[in-house]
Amino acid sequence: MTAIGGFQAPTSGEGRLGVHSIGEFVLSVPAPEKAADFYGAFGLDISDAGGQVALATADGYRWGRVVGGPRKAMHHVAFHCFEEDLPRFKTHLEGQGIRLLSPPPGFDSNGLWLADPDGLLVEIRVGPKTSPDSKAAPAPFDADEAARCAPYRRLAGRARPRRLSHILRFTPDVERMIGFYARALGLRLSDRSGGAIAFMHAIHGSDHHILAFARSEAPGLHHLSWDMPTLDSIGVGAIAMADKGYRMGWGLGRHVLGSNYFHYVRDPWGSFSEYSFNIDHIPARTEWEPLDHPAEDSFYLWGPDMPPEFVFNAEAAQA
Ligand SMILES: [Fe+2]
Repeated sequence: MTAIGGFQAPTSGEGRLGVHSIGEFVLSVPAPEKAADFYGAFGLDISDAGGQVALATADGYRWGRVVGGPRKAMHHVAFHCFEEDLPRFKTHLEGQGIRLLSPPPGFDSNGLWLADPDGLLVEIRVGPKTSPDSKAAPAPFDADEAARCAPYRRLAGRARPRRLSHILRFTPDVERMIGFYARALGLRLSDRSGGAIAFMHAIHGSDHHILAFARSEAPGLHHLSWDMPTLDSIGVGAIAMADKGYRMGWGLGRHVLGSNYFHYVRDPWGSFSEYSFNIDHIPARTEWEPLDHPAEDSFYLWGPDMPPEFVFNAEAAQA
């Protein structure tokens, strides 16, 4: 591992400007009804939001909407900031020469809209801090003696994600995306592997990454990652998805960068949803030094061989 040149340690925290969370994603696909089946099976609550498929966790928070469109593509991603920071962001973005856009039709809001270098529409708006302030204490492994610790399969219940953890996007230029999201949104680099992959966190306390980039010939969505309460719930979710026909994916394994346990399930459009457990946390005001890691550490610590479709960019293929 090598330290990345030019690293600037965070200052005290006061006055620093940065979004604190992912608020919501909106995904456009040719057949939104498939989203209801896939994400419902995955463990999310599905509802109709005026002809859009809304995806929520059990606490009622709506993390995403799926809308109809000619091809699969992320329509936009909304990031949340603190209320006092929204006017600061407007001044900051204008000072950076970043053009502010009108909201897209049907998505009127008081947020700030801009396009990233790959053309993805991004909104910065005031909203609740969905990223955790601290790392959730993992449930203890079964410690009881003289007991049958595993639940009966019929009683295992439904795997239920707790929250969206991160979004990983394909991009032709990882370096450019790191620079843009640091400069415009105040994200910080957590770790990277050369120009192949990079992970970024939010400065007010978040998972090791809320946004990540992997190099590809074209922009696209690689995966949405969902935080799970236990390692066991990853397995319960994975087998439930397989039972429903969603057999393609990758896992169980453990990443090095972020440290999370994973199982990825391929969605109907060739991208993935990830069951994730116990990802590293970067608290607010942490002097986290990003490192540049060798390629062998950029994918996984252990797990089955990675299937070739895992690095397939379906959006490049449909372009
Ligand atoms: Fe992930």
